[in-house]
This record gives sequence, structure tokens and C-alpha cells, in this order.
Amino acid sequence: MEIHIETDRLRIRALTENDLDGMFALDSDPEVHKYLGNKPITHTDEALKYIKDVRKQYAERGIGRWAVELKETGEFIGWVGLRLYTDYTFNDHTNFYDIGYRLRPKFWGKGYATEASKACLKYAWNVLKLDKVYGITEMGNEGSHKVLLKIGLVYLEDFYYEPENLMLRWYSISKPE
Ligand SMILES: CC(C)(COP(=O)(O)OP(=O)(O)OC[C@H]1O[C@@H](n2cnc3c(N)ncnc32)[C@H](O)[C@@H]1OP(=O)(O)O)[C@@H](O)C(=O)NCCC(=O)NCCS
Repeated sequence: MEIHIETDRLRIRALTENDLDGMFALDSDPEVHKYLGNKPITHTDEALKYIKDVRKQYAERGIGRWAVELKETGEFIGWVGLRLYTDYTFNDHTNFYDIGYRLRPKFWGKGYATEASKACLKYAWNVLKLDKVYGITEMGNEGSHKVLLKIGLVYLEDFYYEPENLMLRWYSISKPE
């Protein structure tokens, strides 16, 4: 069954190849990549590869990041959602679910990341029946830090991520009683 979640202002749905233009606009923007290792993409092929990889995750892991659009206009504003990490190790964890989001700058500062990721956490508890969700930000990414705290994650510690030579922050939230 394809995912379809509605919040007050947003529609959350599966990412598809029809989102290619929106995904390219998102990931080619240097402002968006400031705290993502500073490597914006330069070709639509890279956006297509990302979409295909996410869709493979839907099929193989039952979860992956989702597209977010404005209910009012249907505009694609970015992505949000859970990822099951099985292929990378962060802070000594390899099999874990993380919550993330990435929006186009013209949609920042309106509470959209908070609204969308709250809905994703509900899905984590009620549909996936998870006990714990983690969050990761790069040090200095105050916007993302605030979103995680606003949706209830607890900041635990900083750690060094050797593959990207970055200092990252580590957060978690447990299923509410
Ligand atoms: C991080 C990001 C998703 C935040 O999205 P957003 O929709 O603007 O966030 P919200 O509007 O829900 O903001 C939540 C809180 O963070 C604050 N905030 C947002 N951006 C901020 C910034 N750059 N600096 C300080 N605070 C910020 C908001 O003021 C709000 O706090 P408030 O309710 O007390 O006013 C967005 O900036 C983004 O896509 N950045 C690029 C990609 C990225 O870094 N993703 C996260 C990787 S870990």
C-alpha cells in the first residue's frame, strides 16, 4: 500500500520519478547542503539515482524518505521521513531508524519540517511499531537541532564521523508510554 499521510498543511507520499525536477532543485542548492557535507549535486542523473535508491529501500526495507507537498498548491517542497540504516554505521549503531528532512529554502521557517516529522513519528510508533527512533545533525545546524527537540527527541552527545570528517550530533526518542 502506498503511503499517504495528511497533516494540516501538508501531504506526505511516496517519492517517485515524477519528483525529479523538484529533487534536482533541492539537491543542487548549496544553501540546502551547507550542513550536509557541502556537496550539492550538479546533474539530474544524481537526483534520479537518489530517487531510485529510495524506492529500492521502500521495496527492500519497507520504509524510506517520503515526498512532501503543500496541500494547497500541490508544490513539491522536499522530503521527510524515516530511514532504516543497515549499510552505514553512525556512533556505533548500524541497525537503526533515523528521522530526517530536507526542504527547499523558500519553504523554510514556516513550521513545515516540524509538522511533517511529527506525523512521521506517529507512523513510527503506530504503524511500524518501533520502540526507538534516532536523529543525527551536523554540529552548527541549529534549524535541524531545533526541529528534533521540538518533535521530542533528546540530544545525547556529539560524535566524530570519520568517513566524512564531520562532527555530528546524536539524538533519540523512545515510543511514548
Ligand atoms: C532543517 C530544516 C528542515 C528546517 O526546516 P523548517 O521547516 O524551516 O523548520 P521549522 O519551521 O519546523 O522550524 C523549527 C524550529 O527551528 C527554528 N529554525 C529553523 N531554521 C533555523 C535556523 N537556520 N536557525 C535557527 N533556528 C531555526 C524555527 O524558528 C523553529 O523554532 P521556533 O518554533 O522556536 O520558532 C531546513 O532548514 C532544511 O531543509 N535545511 C537543509 C537540509 C538540512 O539541513 N536537513 C537536516 C539535516 S540533519
